[in-house]
Amino acid sequence: MATKGTAAKKAAPRKAAAKAAPQKTAARAKAKPEISAEKSKMVGSVRRSFAPWTDPDAKPFILYENITKRFGDFTAVDDLTLGIYEREFFSLLGGSGCGKTTLLRMLAGFETPTEGRILLDGQDISKIPPYKRPVNMMFQSYALFPHMTVADNIAFGLKQDKMPKGEIADRVDEMLKLVKLEQFKSRKPHMLSGGQRQRVALARSIAKRPKVLLLDEPLGALDKKLREQTQFELIDLQQQLGLTFQIVTHDQEEAMTVSDRIAVMNQGKIIQVSTPAEMYEYPNSRFVADFIGDINLIEGTISSVSGGKVTVETADAGKLVVNQDLKADKGQTAWIAIRPEKVSIGLKKPAARTANVMSGEVWDIGYLGDVSTYHVKMPAGGIVKALQTNATRLVERPITWEDQAWLSFSPDGAVVLLS
Ligand SMILES: Nc1ncnc2c1ncn2[C@@H]1O[C@H](COP(=O)(O)OP(=O)(O)OP(=O)(O)O)[C@@H](O)[C@H]1O
Ligand SMILES: [Mg+2]
Repeated sequence: MATKGTAAKKAAPRKAAAKAAPQKTAARAKAKPEISAEKSKMVGSVRRSFAPWTDPDAKPFILYENITKRFGDFTAVDDLTLGIYEREFFSLLGGSGCGKTTLLRMLAGFETPTEGRILLDGQDISKIPPYKRPVNMMFQSYALFPHMTVADNIAFGLKQDKMPKGEIADRVDEMLKLVKLEQFKSRKPHMLSGGQRQRVALARSIAKRPKVLLLDEPLGALDKKLREQTQFELIDLQQQLGLTFQIVTHDQEEAMTVSDRIAVMNQGKIIQVSTPAEMYEYPNSRFVADFIGDINLIEGTISSVSGGKVTVETADAGKLVVNQDLKADKGQTAWIAIRPEKVSIGLKKPAARTANVMSGEVWDIGYLGDVSTYHVKMPAGGIVKALQTNATRLVERPITWEDQAWLSFSPDGAVVLLS
């Protein structure tokens, strides 16, 4: 009880996951034709219907096939199989040490899988040395050469490849234009902002036109605002160049914003692969549900499963119903996963026909200006969160601490999880 009243000021960082997907679409639609009008148009139109993973005939461009990587007796990547499609923007998400960097390093050729193989465009790449793979990796700590100018940093790999001088100059100019750093070409890295340095590193990693770009925490060094801006620049770049991106990030909002699909990893295994929206709406486990966005997990036991309806008996809220085709047995432990923004809250008891009604005491309120999150304590002790948009001034009296509030959610809004 002592903490009440402080919650409003705390304003915990809001998970804007639900909002992220539409932003992505907007950014993609805006992609400007800078490489060539024709190519860009093509990429744009491909992108709108881009979902090769739903096509049973489509072959992945990158295929990790039963990949295991052990360091001594520690298993960093554990029998992992994953396909990524050409031109896909694919994100790996997962806690520290779950094997993300190791996976990328194996594709780039800096580590060798202990078991399994990696195919690139149908070819086993195990015998191809790193520098010959059409893959470039931008590292977690992107080190620019401090004594070289921006232009020389970008040109570095091209010079190593002995590209003719004139072509190098053209390519560097093209890259500078792409990352909008034309006027900084003669500066040294220490004369740039963090975001500008990051863009130089990006330009350097795409100058050689790799087919696949691996980005390990590419925006890690940027502040939130610059990070968001750079995310959209990354999407634009990937579209314009028609590249396949595999990116590692700690930031689930970032993954939601930029990706065609996301994989959530844990302890060297992939727990779920799906589009951002699917992952948000239909997480396959409590681990994923909890990892992406904010969610209520209400524990109970299955009391019936039939005709696309699952009923779960819960201590906190009695019988709750979810519309879902689920294979489960009566008596099995289950969790109802429901996002706070899908829980309605009010002071009046909902109409008798309303499904999934719960009631409890308002325990905490997180006021974030545009939205408020109400933490409501159920009679059995569980907390259910409801998020309300502060769109209009409230007609009824504002909901406040210790109020008895009524919550409800639609049987279509939740999913029942068995693990
Ligand atoms: N060369 C190595 N020798 C021994 N163990 C290693 C080696 N490289 C990585 N590991 C271990 O493998 C696991 C996975 O490491 P990895 O770098 O892939 O994690 P990650 O998911 O990228 O984590 P982070 O988000 O912190 O970057 C870690 O437990 C790490 O300590
Ligand atoms: Mg890492």
